[in-house]
Amino acid sequence: MKAAIYPGSFDPVTYGHLDIIRRASAIFDELTVSVLNNKTKTPLFSVEERVKILEKATADLPNVTIDSFSGLLVDYAARKDIHVAVRGLRAITDFEYELQIAQTNRKFSNGNLDTVFLTTSLEYAYLSSSTVKEIASFNGDISECVPDFVGRMIYEKYGYKR
Ligand code: PNS
Repeated sequence: MKAAIYPGSFDPVTYGHLDIIRRASAIFDELTVSVLNNKTKTPLFSVEERVKILEKATADLPNVTIDSFSGLLVDYAARKDIHVAVRGLRAITDFEYELQIAQTNRKFSNGNLDTVFLTTSLEYAYLSSSTVKEIASFNGDISECVPDFVGRMIYEKYGYKR
């Protein structure tokens, strides 16, 4: 049984994340998508909201479980006895950041946590949670970035009715 964790902020989840989730769930027997509870950031959605959104958005994928974690990924992965992390790569700028995190995680897990990268599908290469929030904050169109129910929740946060 091959299990993996896809960690992230998912604030909010985008079609880019969902593409990675779908493809990773076809590679691994079990995929745990885990929302980082990052106390230093002020998120748009609470961890509980993000977990609920992810549960709804991945409801058709039976081997995907949604969870959340605080602290170091290596400690969380050890607790769950999972040895692979999945991350998406959009561009070379992602690579430098992701390489450093992957190497740190490998070192601090004593080789017990490897990272597998999936390259984001080209149609989502431009997408990020930050740009989605920026566009929505000006009441711009995010219909090609996130599922409709997520879009409605985002606009509501910014006080727009669409
Ligand atoms: O979606 P994001 O914000 O790019 O995800 C980043 C994430 C959650 C994968 C990364 O920040 C993380 O794993 N944080 C947990 C703390 C940790 O383990 N840090 C060690 C690497 S420096």
